[in-house]
Amino acid sequence: MADKFKRILVTAALPYANGPIHIGHLAGAYLPADLYVKYQRLKKRDILFICGSDEHGVPITIKADQEGVSPQDIVDRYHKMMQESFKTFGIDFDNYSRTSLPIHHETSSDFFTVLNNKKILTEKTEQQLYCEHDNMFLADRYVEGKCPKCGADGARGDQCETCGSYLDQTELIDPKCKICSNSPIIRETKHWYLPLGKYQDQLQTWIRSKPDWKDNVVNYCEGWFREGLEDRAVTRDLKWGVKVPLPDAEGKVLYVWFDAPIGYISSTKEWAIKKGQPELWKDYWQKQDTKLIHFIGKDNIVFHAIVFPAMLMAHGDFVLPENVPANEFLNIEGKKLSTSRNYAIWLHEYLQDFAPDSLRYALASTLPETKDSDFSWKEFQARHNNELADILGNFVNRTFTFAHKYFNGQVPALKNQKPADFEVEKYLTDIPEKIGSLYETYHFREAVQESMNVARMANKYFNDSEPWKTRNSDLVQCGNTIHVSLQICRSLALIFQPVLPDASKKILSLLNQSDNLKNLDWSEAAFFGLKEGQELKQPEILFAKIEDEIIQKQIDKLTQPIQLPVDKNPVESLKPEISIDDFNKIDLRTVTVLEAEVFKGTDKLLKLQVDLGSEKRQVLAGLQQHIKPEDLVGKKVILVANLAPRKMKGEESKGMVLAIEDPNGKLIPVFTPDQVLPGSTVR
Ligand code: MF3
Ligand code: ZN
Repeated sequence: MADKFKRILVTAALPYANGPIHIGHLAGAYLPADLYVKYQRLKKRDILFICGSDEHGVPITIKADQEGVSPQDIVDRYHKMMQESFKTFGIDFDNYSRTSLPIHHETSSDFFTVLNNKKILTEKTEQQLYCEHDNMFLADRYVEGKCPKCGADGARGDQCETCGSYLDQTELIDPKCKICSNSPIIRETKHWYLPLGKYQDQLQTWIRSKPDWKDNVVNYCEGWFREGLEDRAVTRDLKWGVKVPLPDAEGKVLYVWFDAPIGYISSTKEWAIKKGQPELWKDYWQKQDTKLIHFIGKDNIVFHAIVFPAMLMAHGDFVLPENVPANEFLNIEGKKLSTSRNYAIWLHEYLQDFAPDSLRYALASTLPETKDSDFSWKEFQARHNNELADILGNFVNRTFTFAHKYFNGQVPALKNQKPADFEVEKYLTDIPEKIGSLYETYHFREAVQESMNVARMANKYFNDSEPWKTRNSDLVQCGNTIHVSLQICRSLALIFQPVLPDASKKILSLLNQSDNLKNLDWSEAAFFGLKEGQELKQPEILFAKIEDEIIQKQIDKLTQPIQLPVDKNPVESLKPEISIDDFNKIDLRTVTVLEAEVFKGTDKLLKLQVDLGSEKRQVLAGLQQHIKPEDLVGKKVILVANLAPRKMKGEESKGMVLAIEDPNGKLIPVFTPDQVLPGSTVR
């Protein structure tokens, strides 16, 4: 990179914190980004790798609604889980942040204010879908209907996943509220818009000046330009998100696709603060000699190649991305990955059964770089057994075995080299350049194939040199072969480091070179760097073969229907028999919940005020972990009305609310139909 850039800033799309990481995520953004970063680190470049959890947006509140917990609960759970599995998988972020942090709220809110003060945003009152039952505007995924473009069912307010079109929610045919399935009405509401159309010329000129962008990305953008860019609302009527920092914007938050990419900036700020140099983030975002690269999956192209750059242009203080190497989708066993149907391979589950390197290698070999690609367990097994184990692992193993058996576990001398030995030296000379330029230009599949070709060459050299013969006929030549092979092991450890960090570390440790790891440079793979006499560790198997049964289990797991936790939860056994008289002693009544709040100082109880028709009462219900207070207000539930009153934490409770336990141990109150009057008896 003898180019104009002094430093590189790499971002990988912030994953939504509404579910665990699966291999589709990895193949789309995180693995390619990590390969690139690890390579650049070996090139000793100034590079920063930034990511974090995307914790706003409707996917998260919908999940929270479904589970009856708060959005914060959801994001806490998945943020932790994603961060852990990334770490175990060896994805080496310099910082993994989260958009619910104050630093992000501040950064994105300030960004909005700058655009608003510059009078770039326009305010418009428009018609939006509103659910009268749930008393809310149905932003984005809160509404579903028939797609006006392709006619498919299940299109969301912002996008149809079947045909990929971005929609205006009012175009949806027969829209339904995602929460209650009722038909929404249309109501007016005010929002702030980013006038994308005004930036179209600038964006077009900018993208057309990038000859090295991938075709899939450029073609996609050109499609958008042909259609003509339109104003986009950057605010929403939602409770969860970054509050719009204006007095007349009560109940409004920034659109998640406005705040999330700014998360790259806040995460960089957080990194700088943790480093004790709080101003350092500016180097990466504001100096024109920064090379900013966004790694993403194809469903994110419009936001990273068009909307976010337009925001950055509008703001004016930041660099623009130099490249947006988006990948296409990864299918599994020939079928589309689907999280809702649980047709996915989850990273945390994979990591319970296998080592990170095997999946890193298998995925890197089949990345959907130019078109959708396919992951199959059989191919995974073949890559592991036939390439990692039989080619790379075997070469390292046989080399070390010879060194220990015949050369005292030391690097033998190199004397009177034969042409074949010279050829290896010559071959290695070009390797870092050749593979490096593939990494540099985002051709990761090829980079990994070329790396394995070095190991193929190595085995061929070993076989052709026949050290098992020369050890009797010509021990010096046998020593040469093992010397050269050990040198190749060192080069292999270097060039495989981005894709196989664990194996690379192990090989260097066998060579007693781990101390040098920090100083090792990519370009050194071109040379023989081991000294004669260097002590070696005992060989270890790098990759044990994976048996058919193990793979079959994974295939079965994939095609099995979703394992409902209910299977593991046998039905509770029945209580002893009671008479009808016993039952009649219990007075069950419907009550309307008038007020509900968290009972402060407790972590289980909600304090409810209920209307029993004849009287009002206070009830303390153990539902805090199970339902949000606001979701109880106005609803009718069933009360055990003649239960003896009890005091809890100094407050009185008169009665008990009936609730059903779901398979996960969550309690769902028994709601009664609307026409029932408070005080009605339940028999
Ligand atoms: N959360 C989004 C997704 O999973 C990606 C957000 S990328 C960012 O599709 F730039 F907005 F952060
Ligand atoms: Zn509704």
